[in-house]
Amino acid sequence: MRNMVKVGIDVMGFYTPHYYLDLKVLAKARGIDVNKFHTGLGQKKMAVIPPDEDVVTMAADAGFRVLQHVDPEEIDLLLFATESAIDQSKAAGIFVHRLLKLPARCRVVELKQACYSATAGLQMALPMLRQNQGKKILLIASDVARYGLNTTGESSQGGGAVAMVLSQNPRILAIEPESGFYTEDVMDFWRPNYREEAIVDGKYSCELYLRCVQKTWEQYTALSGRTLSQHARFCYHVPVPRLVEKAHQCLIKFNGLPKLSAEELENQLGSSLQYGRIIGNCYAAALYLSLISLLENTAGSLSQQRIGFYSYGSGCVAEFFSGVVQENYQTMLETKYHQAMLENREPLSEKEYEAFYNFSYPVDGSAVVLSKHHKGRYRLAAIEEHKRIYEMI
Ligand code: HMG
Repeated sequence: MRNMVKVGIDVMGFYTPHYYLDLKVLAKARGIDVNKFHTGLGQKKMAVIPPDEDVVTMAADAGFRVLQHVDPEEIDLLLFATESAIDQSKAAGIFVHRLLKLPARCRVVELKQACYSATAGLQMALPMLRQNQGKKILLIASDVARYGLNTTGESSQGGGAVAMVLSQNPRILAIEPESGFYTEDVMDFWRPNYREEAIVDGKYSCELYLRCVQKTWEQYTALSGRTLSQHARFCYHVPVPRLVEKAHQCLIKFNGLPKLSAEELENQLGSSLQYGRIIGNCYAAALYLSLISLLENTAGSLSQQRIGFYSYGSGCVAEFFSGVVQENYQTMLETKYHQAMLENREPLSEKEYEAFYNFSYPVDGSAVVLSKHHKGRYRLAAIEEHKRIYEMI
């Protein structure tokens, strides 16, 4: 990156809904030993999305916060990464564009490739930023993970949004240009247009996730010449935290290093998984939530340290890339705000969770006014004539 202008993440933040299900409650309801969730999968809680929230309101909440650090008038591109689209035609980002009062001279587009799409957005944005001094791009990943009640994927649901302002001379993370990427046409996880829940071949999806770590790492390390030890920390896409730990052990093994002890594993990954363990999978946002978790929960400074990133989206596309944490990045974090958001969440009973889960929107054009559950800044107020009506609270 010697002669190249620095580009990357200037500001970032996340939003997750006010409600969660403690996996102890789920274990009891489904007659499953809770240790399967806590130890076997490394998951404690999962976010539950009430009927008056969706990918638009979550994205707007996350976006509003990051725009406090930049002039919204400077944003001329909004990239919206999601696999929980609310429309086959109109980009969800256009609703967000209005809610956030972005300038009319702003391009808006939605990106899809399972959990990989935010990384696609990031990588597509970087060359534009290198060429245009002063350009700022808002990248928002927002998703709801749904597998269905009583399925093996049920405990790995969740949801949330991460918003990032990307720019030259970023204040949080400069992304390095080398990256390894890989595509293969596989059916490990998919959601046909007519379904609300994903279909997943769980074990196969985990095998692919692990296989692609090696493929993308090999390319990345060949291109960059960097060794594992030149990375201070790692952030992975987090479908279930235990899989991330397995992937990291695989990476250690490919590099001919001895298996990490539980303590070493915790030291290298623990802080990056802290938020994921209590939010669950948020698909396209999950890798970037892991970065926020790492930056906000690591004791000591990560300034000038290199982080390795592994992005995986079923179907599948995977990528390994890296970034260097910038000096004074701590001044850009919203740690207190995020921690208060998580601490103030409300637990749901099994019945309340199922009621939220089973709520269905009209599909025949009839009108519905949605009860007010949402505690954030924006909510889905009603649906009328097939149109979603959003409001700012
Ligand atoms: P499962 O079949 O319910 O779990 O599915 P299991 O039976 O394999 O058990 C999981 C672990 O818990 C095992 O450990 C058990 O031994 C252990 P392992 O052998 O793997 O080390 N276990 C226990 N441990 C302690 N005490 C106990 C106990 N019982 C069992 N009593 C699976 C798990 C993740 C497959 C499932 O939750 C699922 O299908 N989730 C959804 C798919 C998924 O998350 N896949 C991950 C990779 S694909 C991906 O990342 C993309 C994705 O994000 C979507 C996108 O790209 O858009 C999903």
